[in-house]
Amino acid sequence: KQVALGIDIGGTNTKFGLVNHRGEIIVKGSISTDQYETAEVFVDALYETIKPLIDKHCDGKIMEGIGVGAPNANYYTGTIEHAPNLPWKGVIPFADLMTAKFGSPCKMTNDANAAALGEMMYGAARGMKDFIMITLGTGVGSGIVSGGNLIYGHDGFAGELGHTIVKPGGRKHWSTGSEGSLEAYASATGIAITAKKMRAEFPDSMLNSYPEDAINSKTVYECAEKGDAVAIEVFRYTGQKLGEALANFVMFSSPQAILLFGGVIKAGDFILKPAKLHMERNLLPIFRNKVKLVFSELDEADAAILGASALVWEK
Ligand code: BGC
Ligand code: NA
Repeated sequence: KQVALGIDIGGTNTKFGLVNHRGEIIVKGSISTDQYETAEVFVDALYETIKPLIDKHCDGKIMEGIGVGAPNANYYTGTIEHAPNLPWKGVIPFADLMTAKFGSPCKMTNDANAAALGEMMYGAARGMKDFIMITLGTGVGSGIVSGGNLIYGHDGFAGELGHTIVKPGGRKHWSTGSEGSLEAYASATGIAITAKKMRAEFPDSMLNSYPEDAINSKTVYECAEKGDAVAIEVFRYTGQKLGEALANFVMFSSPQAILLFGGVIKAGDFILKPAKLHMERNLLPIFRNKVKLVFSELDEADAAILGASALVWEK
């Protein structure tokens, strides 16, 4: 009997789970990411949290290995490199740190790739060979599956679609300095920026009843639900930028579906409808009305944990 430890490192929180061979999560939990200034202290904290769970839930079973999904992770080298939305700078030999601490082999992939793997094995992408996973959270990530395989590219970083440009000369990215990236608009961070700009132009908007630091995709959603036109426009604009980007992605790899995943999809149709509209509008006719645009079927935490753990069983 074997168990894998799947870990999903996010800009704000890190989720983990012990997963058996059938893809069942035996136990799961989370710790904060951004409160740890270095990857070393973070790995120590992870170990302190998870070790007791391994002792309790794995006895008699072999911990086969660890799979980690993380922003800017390199599948080939097990490193996390210059992640714009993580507190740790530079090139971090994360898989090595994990192996040294836990005493188990550790494999890594990009966090959005892990979500794509999870969805392919257990969720909405079961049986699909060509699809793109787009994760909309603190950052925007993607996993591109083509012919049944994740695309890794020459150096292991393929699929950084969040940093493709949707508006040349547009909004400057807070960390990379690029201008007009999809992430600058469609991430939770980007939505908050859009909302702050728009509410300043419209004093009557409900969005003005929140303090500056409470403006986030959740509060914007609350206002949109109550019918606030400005909040609805924030999502419409976000959806438009997303849809335009998706059209590019479709024409690049001809997927059968695009899966949207992450905290931001709680905004539902407020984002999905304009995204669909602007995707279709910008597609070459040969691609029109063919690509399914759907939300992930798996619980957000589970997909990435399952996908990360699946790295352990990979040959
Ligand atoms: C990173 C990606 C990551 C995404 C979501 C982006 O800023 O460049 O590697 O997948 O955020 O976390
Ligand atoms: Na990716």
